[in-house]
Amino acid sequence: MTDVDGGGPAVRRLAEWDEGDLGALAEEFETPLYVVDLDRVDENCTRLQAAFPDADVRYAAKAHIGRPVLQTVREAGLDVECASAGEVERALAAGFTGDRIQYTAVNPPGRDLDHVVDRWRDHPGLTVTVGAADTADRLRDRGFDGRLCIRANPGVGAGHHEKVRTGANAKFGIPIERVAELADQWAAEFDLVGVHAHAGSGISGEDLSAHRELVRRMGDLTREIESRTGSLEFVDVGGGFGVPYREDEPPLDLDAVAEATREALGTVDAALAVEPGRYVVADAGVLLTRVNTVKRARDATVVGVDAGMTTLLRPAMYDAYHAISNVTASEDAETVDTTVAGPICESADVLCEHRPLSRPRRGDILAVGNAGAYGYEMSSTYNSRPRPAEVVRSGTTVRLARRRESLTDLTALEQ
Ligand code: LLP
Repeated sequence: MTDVDGGGPAVRRLAEWDEGDLGALAEEFETPLYVVDLDRVDENCTRLQAAFPDADVRYAAKAHIGRPVLQTVREAGLDVECASAGEVERALAAGFTGDRIQYTAVNPPGRDLDHVVDRWRDHPGLTVTVGAADTADRLRDRGFDGRLCIRANPGVGAGHHEKVRTGANAKFGIPIERVAELADQWAAEFDLVGVHAHAGSGISGEDLSAHRELVRRMGDLTREIESRTGSLEFVDVGGGFGVPYREDEPPLDLDAVAEATREALGTVDAALAVEPGRYVVADAGVLLTRVNTVKRARDATVVGVDAGMTTLLRPAMYDAYHAISNVTASEDAETVDTTVAGPICESADVLCEHRPLSRPRRGDILAVGNAGAYGYEMSSTYNSRPRPAEVVRSGTTVRLARRRESLTDLTALEQ
């Protein structure tokens, strides 16, 4: 495990969070509650910068867009990658200047392009990444002639689940073999600054060969453009660096990933850029939930809690594993085979099945680990469940970052 100066250990596991502290937060702010440790966010930024010292590290804000997280990332010196006009707006509001914002336009609605082009007039340093020739046309039609990056579809993908593998998915990017020709054309109409590709999300050590192949293809593309069109400022090889969700899973060897990346890229004039989201915030967050109901079922104890797929969608959507512990169990509590289920009327609404847990009693607080990335952001109000609250910790200070939604909030938009 590497321990970079100021970067802390390579992974922070659920067991390392102070149980008494988490229990107290649940009492004070009620549940379900997301807790985000900004110091850990900062450490993760430091470790990324140490592994990729020459690269432009861009935080993929979709993983967690909360204002305190964005500010921490900005202060740590990372740039930001935004997936929508809304994310661009929130990055600007968190103090990112336009030259630190990369907007990745994925089938962008006209309203998004209108808004981003409007913001670009005041922030001309902003970069727009297009994944379709037709998106470049739509930008041109709006008078945009600024910093443009081309997203390539390199034909290789990787990731923790088929639903998050993008590199070979036709939805994303322009087939790599067509990119150099478009670069020629667009260099005359825009300020062509870079090329981009993203293999997918949650890349593990086993996916390293796919990542290496993607980077190799992007290196070839960059050299081709540099020789026929002119220099590029950057080659962005995406994010996707995985974190260990299972208690016994080893952390990704980030230095090895960085070394493989540099080696596969080869010599290019363009600077390397990477776009991690999950790696920055996943282990900086936990979700706290209270036990409402304990039921002896045929083959397990079913524990009904107040967080479900509307609070943390990942288990229902990707069968994702998240470590879970009972932070209020007594020391001598026996371990029982437990299924933790949420309050939503869907059978997919389970946070884990058949997990050994210290016997949960009604009122106990369970902590769900690695909930900082794609947790709050993917929450919804399905079944008219208000979204949870979120607190952020920095040093010994804890404050409410997003208040709990109320039942009144649920109907606030109705006309
Ligand atoms: N860059 C682009 C263009 C992306 O689409 C993404 C993620 C990232 C960077 C950051 O990937 P990361 O480093 O966070 O893996 N909801 C899913 C993950 C979806 C990721 C979508 N794109 C999950 O909870 O696993």
